[in-house]
Amino acid sequence: NIPTIKLNTGALIPQVGLGTWQSADGDGYKSTVEALKAGYTHIDSAMFYRNEAEVGKAIRESGIPREKLFITTKIWPTDLQYVEETFNKSIELLGLDYVDLYLMHWPVAMNHNGNDRWYPTRPDGSIDIVDPKEWSYLDTYKEMQKLLKTGKVKAIGISNFNKERIEKLLADPEVTVVPAVEQIELHPLLPQQELVDYCHSKGIAVEAYSPLGSTGAPILSNETIVKIAKKRGVNPAVIAISWAVWRKTIVLPKSTHAERIKANLQLVELTDEEGKEIDNIHKLLGGPKRLVDPKWGIKLFD
Ligand code: A2P
Repeated sequence: NIPTIKLNTGALIPQVGLGTWQSADGDGYKSTVEALKAGYTHIDSAMFYRNEAEVGKAIRESGIPREKLFITTKIWPTDLQYVEETFNKSIELLGLDYVDLYLMHWPVAMNHNGNDRWYPTRPDGSIDIVDPKEWSYLDTYKEMQKLLKTGKVKAIGISNFNKERIEKLLADPEVTVVPAVEQIELHPLLPQQELVDYCHSKGIAVEAYSPLGSTGAPILSNETIVKIAKKRGVNPAVIAISWAVWRKTIVLPKSTHAERIKANLQLVELTDEEGKEIDNIHKLLGGPKRLVDPKWGIKLFD
């Protein structure tokens, strides 16, 4: 009874999924086991999270028919020039025959053979980016389109793309598949309504990462959220997650605690009045605020 959204591929995606960033070293396994027990059918992983093997193990051991689940993984910037082999590695780590969604984690290619697996830098300390004339996110996306033909990827999408980059992607004559999904940081302090509306107008579903504000979950102590939670008799997390569902996004709360994982699935149907009040929270606090920055700074992508 988790609500679903129809992707532009025709597939249904559950509107709540388990986020697994910062769930590794056993936590990826445990939280996936708990989530599947609690009734989650949607798990969001990534090669960068270093938990694909754990997540996959939990999925395989669950005995839940594969077609009842929606599994996502992502390709990291240092792998953008190696789509096919990186995808095959993900599938192998997951131990699954296919993924439901494969996302480009960030719209920038970084040196695959640099001084660091995840954040290569140049001697001057700047990020070791591949010259876009040599290889760009557009080239990666075109390679991702080819994966669809293998049947091992049911849908492809993007993450952390701003509007200009999406426009550029959609305008490219060799881009024939509209991304099914755009995954971005979204929570009451960063609603990004314009970008959400733009994606929806193009048939791109939008996924919210860090819906509770990530580490420390600052959204849970917000006055408005707490007030509505008290009124509805639920945990503040339920309100933040239900708001994401109310605004027709897909939401990926992360937790490694069984009772929180369970609680985060208890949706309430917000009234439009409550939803709009949450829309306005950031305005009371001095405007939108990004709470999660990549190590190298979001400016690279904006
Ligand atoms: P933990 O994993 O220790 O449970 P986000 O989804 O925005 O990334 O937020 C995740 C953060 O919020 C994590 O630090 C997680 O901690 C915490 N968290 C997740 N669900 C709840 C909850 N229901 N109540 C309190 N904290 C939560």
